[in-house]
Amino acid sequence: MPAIRWAEGAEGPAGAVVVLLDQTRLPAEEAELVCADPQALVGAIRSLAVRGAPLLGIAGAYGVALAAARGHDVDQAAAALAAARPTAVNLASGVRLAQAAHRGALAAGADASAAARAALAAARDLHTRDAEASARMARHGLALLDELLPAGAHRILTHCNTGALVSGGEGTAFAVALAAHRAGRLARLWVDETRPLLQGARLTAYEAARHAMPYRLLTDSAAGSLFAAGEVDAVLIGADRIAADGSVANKIGSYPLAVLARYHHVPFVVVAPVTTLDPDTPDGPSIEVEQRPGREVTEIPAVVAAPGTEPAAVAPPGTQAYNPAFDVTPPELVTAIVTEEGAVSPVTATALAELCARSRQVTIS
Ligand code: MRU
Repeated sequence: MPAIRWAEGAEGPAGAVVVLLDQTRLPAEEAELVCADPQALVGAIRSLAVRGAPLLGIAGAYGVALAAARGHDVDQAAAALAAARPTAVNLASGVRLAQAAHRGALAAGADASAAARAALAAARDLHTRDAEASARMARHGLALLDELLPAGAHRILTHCNTGALVSGGEGTAFAVALAAHRAGRLARLWVDETRPLLQGARLTAYEAARHAMPYRLLTDSAAGSLFAAGEVDAVLIGADRIAADGSVANKIGSYPLAVLARYHHVPFVVVAPVTTLDPDTPDGPSIEVEQRPGREVTEIPAVVAAPGTEPAAVAPPGTQAYNPAFDVTPPELVTAIVTEEGAVSPVTATALAELCARSRQVTIS
């Protein structure tokens, strides 16, 4: 089941829906979540039924197309979608892309239905390009691992979920690990469970099992002893936003892995499409980090509790929690950033600016 798809019934675009694979239900069940209006999609984004930076961009673009197809106020829907989660830059940029196509069509004299088709075409194009970017990141990432690591099979540690569930293709960091697996060069995929919402345990383990990868799950707090035991050859993670100076916002728990990796002389590699580079955000402190509800920390998520039961409390009633969804890793701890346009290493503002300029040329030509 794809992570996201556009569907139109007999009514045509007026009855269009965005169909999601509901990631809050995985791995217990592969359930569809049908969004018939942009507000439903905003709810799905907030609840993490659809998540991960590249997929959020695609969802945002389809959301604008949905608003246009169903005759909603497109600018209002676009504003609500873009504001649903603040950290992943792809969400707002995906929304803007479809909104610009819609506005451009209207400005060129198109009627409402032709403008809606233009927004949908932009969303579909973003979806397709993301799939292509994913395949190219996998190739560049595997080539980089070959350069960085001695020959032989690699033991890779990853965090959160960065596979087909976040992408039009096979993902970002996970796609590199999958390419290594297919090439016979993955000895072990270490999967951080990724507290509090368990994207590693619920989603990455689910994807790794489907590909019969040699994975093993660990609690986030076990990572230190794993490094100390010399069991990690490289860390591969994704990103939600990469600032102009190379600071990387990613799932909470990424920064401690970068610190561990540096201490243990292990490469720390970030894999992300160029759509996640944000030249307008100068540095790490300028990145807005989403704060999530405390109950995600004080309760075990409903999906891992018995079906039909309430989420189970793991802290006394009234406990206040600190629950940032992301942290920021400074560029000096990042060995390389791999994009579909190639890898940047060392990570500097100049090298990233050059990469952005190169990728804009590719997109325009
Ligand atoms: O809160 P989430 O699950 O949306 O966070 C996702 C991540 O942090 C991913 O690592 C990131 O979006 C990169 S996905 C290719």
